[in-house]
Amino acid sequence: MKPRDYELETFWMPFTANRQFKAAPRMLVSAKDMHYIAEDGRRILDGTAGLWCVNAGHCRVRITEAIKAAAETLDYGPIFQMGHPGPFKVAQRLKKLLPADLDYAFFTNSGSESVDTALKIALAYHRARGEGHRRWLIGRERGYHGVGFGGTSVGGIPPNRRAFGNLLPCVDHLPHTHDLEHNSFSRGQPSWGAHLADELENRVIALHDASSIAAVIVEPVAGSTGVLVPPKGYLERLRQICDQHGILLIFDEVITGFGRLGASFGCERFGIVPDMVTMAKGLTNATVPMGAVVARRHLYEAIVNSAPENAIELFHGYTYSGHPLAAAAALATLDLYQEERLFEGAKSLERHFEDAVHSLREAPHVVDIRNLGMMAGIELAPVPGRPGARGQQALVGAFERGILTRVTGDIIALSPPLIISKQQIDELVGTLGEVLREMGGKNL
Ligand SMILES: Cc1ncc(COP(=O)(O)O)c(C=O)c1O
Repeated sequence: MKPRDYELETFWMPFTANRQFKAAPRMLVSAKDMHYIAEDGRRILDGTAGLWCVNAGHCRVRITEAIKAAAETLDYGPIFQMGHPGPFKVAQRLKKLLPADLDYAFFTNSGSESVDTALKIALAYHRARGEGHRRWLIGRERGYHGVGFGGTSVGGIPPNRRAFGNLLPCVDHLPHTHDLEHNSFSRGQPSWGAHLADELENRVIALHDASSIAAVIVEPVAGSTGVLVPPKGYLERLRQICDQHGILLIFDEVITGFGRLGASFGCERFGIVPDMVTMAKGLTNATVPMGAVVARRHLYEAIVNSAPENAIELFHGYTYSGHPLAAAAALATLDLYQEERLFEGAKSLERHFEDAVHSLREAPHVVDIRNLGMMAGIELAPVPGRPGARGQQALVGAFERGILTRVTGDIIALSPPLIISKQQIDELVGTLGEVLREMGGKNL
């Protein structure tokens, strides 16, 4: 291993136990297809597609070449009252990928910005229609919607909120849908839990009144909290209640988009049309930061048509919205997904992946396994009084054995690139099993 020519101290790492990491760093220095190369030269099988984002595998030449060409042609172009072709082309492609009249793309640079943008569009939509009293935003316990003030507020993972005080006013949360007693070890969508959607009507609407509620935002499958799959009928019921009361439904598909569920998006997989879809990550195969909100026609028309002619209709946007490098990366990524039929490929791998992860059922400490598409959660019993310790031990043990996993508390998440082979799925899960069995014999 080459000695490092940089120090570790001054980079304040995000969502990281800085002191622990810097004492025993896990550094990645390059990547290709299904593997990372660690600083010490070891090949690490990527079980998480980076952070649920490298859906087509690493350093794909088609994408890197497109980025290079874009950088040499138009390094940057202003996007307020000016245009360049890239984002217009990407918008057109997204319209084709999404169902119904989800036709209008607003570009951002991340999932967090997509979420905050969608929440602002929801408020602006109601105001444009003379319903500015609709100000409440409803999220869900255990939801993750990024780290902006809006996304943190509607998010429901306690440690992500605790340090930051009150956040946005007029926010409430639905209950989450997971219950170890009723739906542990479900394969695919659990059959218990659709009734939890009724909390929207019975508690949230009853409490705040529908006329004050702007939007409900949920992840179709909750990812970051540890893969919570929606019960059968749950999302359908949410859609129904929202329709009945004029409330917008936003699907946060930052993880579930671009083939993760064996379909273009979760809304396609579940056959439900939300009013807006937020996305990022897989949009560019994570090569250049880019996110988007895609809205249905009635939102665009309400906001655009209510503004005076020649006026800016929505006072919102980012310097890098639709950046030329990101747009080039997105177009090449979408081509690759299509040519290699990666969404269909994910669908056909789903059964093998499901059988593989459920084979860990008898491994030490495992209290639940759940899966849908190419995402799975393996929940471990916490060490009494030390939540997260067992999960961290699994993450480190897995990395030492050459596989990259993701851990939230004591839940291990797997979400490999969609190019993974059946053999690599077996290797990933087999190695994780060895790690768990090794942990089984040790006291923490
Ligand atoms: C559902 C969801 N929304 C939003 C985000 C935030 O995305 P970003 O980290 O790109 O801001 C994430 C990130 O994991 C996510 O999973």
